[in-house]
Amino acid sequence: MNEIIQNILSRRSVRSYTQEQISDENLNLILEAANYAPSGMGQQGWHFTVVQNKEKVDELVSAVKELMKNSSEERFQKMAGNPEFNPFYNAPTVIITSYDKSSATVEANCAVALQNIFLAAHSLNISSCWIHILAYFGQDPKVRSILTELGVPQDYEVSGSAVLGYSDKPLPAAAPRKEGTVNFVK
Ligand SMILES: Cc1cc2nc3c(=O)[nH]c(=O)nc-3n(C[C@H](O)[C@H](O)[C@H](O)COP(=O)(O)O)c2cc1C
Repeated sequence: MNEIIQNILSRRSVRSYTQEQISDENLNLILEAANYAPSGMGQQGWHFTVVQNKEKVDELVSAVKELMKNSSEERFQKMAGNPEFNPFYNAPTVIITSYDKSSATVEANCAVALQNIFLAAHSLNISSCWIHILAYFGQDPKVRSILTELGVPQDYEVSGSAVLGYSDKPLPAAAPRKEGTVNFVK
């Protein structure tokens, strides 16, 4: 099996991190991989906001947890009720994707850029996880004002985020793959 396929198959979502920061050199490679993702009509209508400031991430976490507690969705209430819960898993780097609403295929563009981020990170022995909470709550005025302060462009909508860092334990095994997800017509 070639290295690219091996990298795709062995990437796992990690939810527990050490506080060791990733290097700027690796961060820049990961961001370059994100920027080279395919995008609808090649418009690259995305923006990547990198947050490596713990106080700023904590501010975002408190605002988001407050909204989760008051959400009508029981799963959010339950998660936010746990004082240990951090939607960004205390990872030292958070990358928030956002998109220009006037671009084509906006959510899909951010999704492929995020996958490039995860795969590039994994190839550099950096762990990662997709975090979706800002896509749910990014339009709340309090959260939005924090995001604006962090540099998310004002007229851009927030999509998924990536957390990056070093796992504090070995990577988990992949879940078994579902059967019957493919059919062939030859
Ligand atoms: C669109 C999307 C949203 C996700 N949101 C979250 C999230 O908010 N928090 C989280 O811990 N994992 C999230 N994940 C990660 C999935 O839970 C994970 O990919 C899945 O359990 C399979 O595990 P693997 O990535 O290790 O193969 C998300 C994944 C996708 C594709």
